[in-house]
Amino acid sequence: MDFRIQENCEGIDWLQVREYLKDAGMGYYEAHLHEKAFRSSYAVVFVFNAGKLAGFGRAISDGAYQAAIYDVVVLPEFRDRGLGRLIISHIIEKVESCNIILYASPGKEGFYSKLGFSAMKTGMARFLNPVKMKEKGMI
Ligand SMILES: CC(C)(COP(=O)(O)OP(=O)(O)OC[C@H]1O[C@@H](n2cnc3c(N)ncnc32)[C@H](O)[C@@H]1OP(=O)(O)O)[C@@H](O)C(=O)NCCC(=O)NCCS
Repeated sequence: MDFRIQENCEGIDWLQVREYLKDAGMGYYEAHLHEKAFRSSYAVVFVFNAGKLAGFGRAISDGAYQAAIYDVVVLPEFRDRGLGRLIISHIIEKVESCNIILYASPGKEGFYSKLGFSAMKTGMARFLNPVKMKEKGMI
């Protein structure tokens, strides 16, 4: 299958981004906030198959030594074909001088371990909705 990688935000349908995040059980907001988040990110990756958005991810970073990955989704019909790995590897390339942190959705830790990530022993977070995050198994 032929995939096209896009590393900028041009022409992205932010309502679609919102739907993909929502359907994946991840945090989702109004479309304009997703646009703000992606446009404010240091690295963005969108993958298309025959013009259809197949997946995406982004990292915020100082561009020097620290980065954090967020909003990684592959549409179900395109999963298990290496697309998640492709998205993460493109992000890593963009922040290669950096330590990279992220929080995995419960059940996705194995995906990140395969890509070279290790579980943190002292990770701390101040979530806006700690009750919800506890329910989701994040804390
Ligand atoms: C997590 C996700 C991005 C993986 O995308 P994908 O395209 O299916 O992943 P890949 O095919 O690139 O998988 C890469 C490797 O990770 C493994 N893997 C994928 N999901 C896994 C999981 N949940 N647990 C353990 N290993 C997993 C694959 O088997 C593959 O291993 P291999 O290289 O030995 O064959 C995708 O399942 C998804 O979008 N899920 C919903 C959203 C989500 O949870 N995103 C992550 C938020 S932190």
